[in-house]
Amino acid sequence: MKTAFDQGKGPAVLLIHAFPLNHTMWEPQLASFTSEFRVVAPDVRGFGRSQPQSPWTMEEAADDINALLDSSGVETCAVAGVSMGGYIALAFWSKYPQRVRRLILANTRARADTETEKTARNEMIAGLQQNGTALLPDRMLPRLLRPNASQETVQAVRKMIDAVHPSAAIYAVMAMRDRVDFSSAVHRIQCPTMVVTGSDDVIISAGEARALAGTISGCRFFEVPHSGHLSNLENPEEFNRALLAFLRP
Ligand code: MLT
Repeated sequence: MKTAFDQGKGPAVLLIHAFPLNHTMWEPQLASFTSEFRVVAPDVRGFGRSQPQSPWTMEEAADDINALLDSSGVETCAVAGVSMGGYIALAFWSKYPQRVRRLILANTRARADTETEKTARNEMIAGLQQNGTALLPDRMLPRLLRPNASQETVQAVRKMIDAVHPSAAIYAVMAMRDRVDFSSAVHRIQCPTMVVTGSDDVIISAGEARALAGTISGCRFFEVPHSGHLSNLENPEEFNRALLAFLRP
């Protein structure tokens, strides 16, 4: 895992991106966050500038983050993950809770995949093995964004998807398929936590996110209006307002 972005002064905030994107998905957050925080936004294994591609697990991604914080001289930080980034954030909290000052779980879930979801992952892996990443835009865009998302947002997401190497996508889908179930562990989270959802998220519904928030003691919950699965990109004004209010000491 490479630190693709590390700028700003203040308490550290680590931002972990979704599948199949890279750290540039945080573009709408960077300018408003770096005036108050040190923002560290890595590329997950195989994505963006992070090479090489080899199979990985969420726990190994958590180890990557741990090593990254060590090498960046960051002792503790707020950790925010969108979707796959949230799976990694939970694995990181589970292994290194002492490093997590605050936790933001956006458009994500604590439970593992169901058997049906695992089957869909295997079909996607087979498709990626046969045809490369050509299937990704049609498969992912309608799930990640609302049908009426701005053209600018659609183009930005498409650009990230177009840059993905097939094996990076395959290994990430495997890691998501095989991730462990944290649903009975999250009640142990002791740091301030916020669950964020998108009003029109078709991958992880607002209702499911609200239920997750209910299992974490003292958890804040925020539903980003007019937003699908990538709430930080579709409605950055509301996403940033909620996050900054939560992050400020
Ligand atoms: C993501 O947005 O990171 C993924 O779509 C999440 C998933 O497939 O579980």
